[in-house]
Amino acid sequence: MVSGFSKLFKPRVEALGLEIGASSLKLVELSGHPPALRAFATRPTPPGMLAEGVVAEPAALAQEIRELLAEARTRKRYVVSAVPNPSVILRTIQVPKMPPKEMEEAVRWEAERYIPFPIDEVVLDFAPLEPLSEVSEGEQTEVMVGVARQEAVAGLLEALRGAGLMPVVLDVKPFAGLYPLEAELGAEPERVAVAVEIGAESTSLVLTRGDRPLAVRVLTLSGKDFTEAIGKAFGLDFLTAEEVKRTYGLATIPTEDEELLLDFDAERERYSPARIYDAIRPILVDLTQEIRRSLEFFRVQLGDIHPEVGYLYGGGSRLRGLATLLTDTLGVSFTTPDPWQGIQVDPKRFDLEKLKELGPELMVPIGLALRGVSPLD
Ligand SMILES: Nc1ncnc2c1ncn2[C@@H]1O[C@H](COP(=O)(O)OP(=O)(O)OP(=O)(O)O)[C@@H](O)[C@H]1O
Ligand SMILES: [Mg+2]
Repeated sequence: MVSGFSKLFKPRVEALGLEIGASSLKLVELSGHPPALRAFATRPTPPGMLAEGVVAEPAALAQEIRELLAEARTRKRYVVSAVPNPSVILRTIQVPKMPPKEMEEAVRWEAERYIPFPIDEVVLDFAPLEPLSEVSEGEQTEVMVGVARQEAVAGLLEALRGAGLMPVVLDVKPFAGLYPLEAELGAEPERVAVAVEIGAESTSLVLTRGDRPLAVRVLTLSGKDFTEAIGKAFGLDFLTAEEVKRTYGLATIPTEDEELLLDFDAERERYSPARIYDAIRPILVDLTQEIRRSLEFFRVQLGDIHPEVGYLYGGGSRLRGLATLLTDTLGVSFTTPDPWQGIQVDPKRFDLEKLKELGPELMVPIGLALRGVSPLD
């Protein structure tokens, strides 16, 4: 498993997991082995806080994070967080195996060809995709390279520190979302899977074999596009459209038996499932096509490779019927994973049903929290 993006230093203490999402901030505190849930809180991200994955106002974000910490009532101050997808580029590249220091230089040099901004303005990290002990010196090996705009990293660190936190790891979201799946993926070392996370401002796809990532793609088409489509169709501002989507959007993709019922409703209800479905249908078509194209891109890049199973998560995946739609149109069987498996949750302290319902959008913060309690390499 690709471990970590940027290790600022190695803590011996446990750290919180905090996702700075375009739509919400999500905090998860775990502790112990096996991990147990200690605290959990989420809070809407005020609009305009992030622009293209860069923190627009670190001080304002810091204040929001403080409120979140207060709500969670945690005393931990070490934190594992992640750089927003729009400011990160993830690629696999080939370099010959060599001593670590030289390899780092080779990767930088090689990466420069793929990065649309000067190499001096980025933070770069990489991880080999196969254990280097299994590769002989000089032989080509694949490494996953993560590059983030320095501006994005600096703004994020400023906000975290401004909230009194001590960041120990900045990961990347597409991999963080895989940590809760690590045992399940690792149990079938040869199986190829695809993990699709639909967030508020980006969608990521990670192709894996066993628990190792093979390739990543990030799309801009995501939850916000569904909201905007509803806003346009009904003449609503973004926040109202968002509310309508969440309230009525759960019944959007009609199954065959429901169609009659939906037609009956259509005349009476402003936000009938049928009208909402009409509004978001073009986005669903685009999203399905983009995912299909990404799978084709993986196939071209990696040779004839097709995922056997798909995992679908992220808040944007909560449109009812989406997993079925993707399964039917892409020929890959998609399911929604439960990020709480393997984590102890005290039913006296937490609302299990609520946590389960939120599960799909908590893969990343739970993954970050899992990193916060696992020994760092
Ligand atoms: N019940 C629902 N039906 C449809 N969409 C939903 C529902 N609940 C949440 N969403 C959508 O999920 C998105 C938020 O998902 P998530 O919390 O995973 O994003 P984020 O982590 O804040 O953003 P990002 O990771 O992209 O920065 C929003 O677009 C929201 O509208
Ligand atoms: Mg997210």
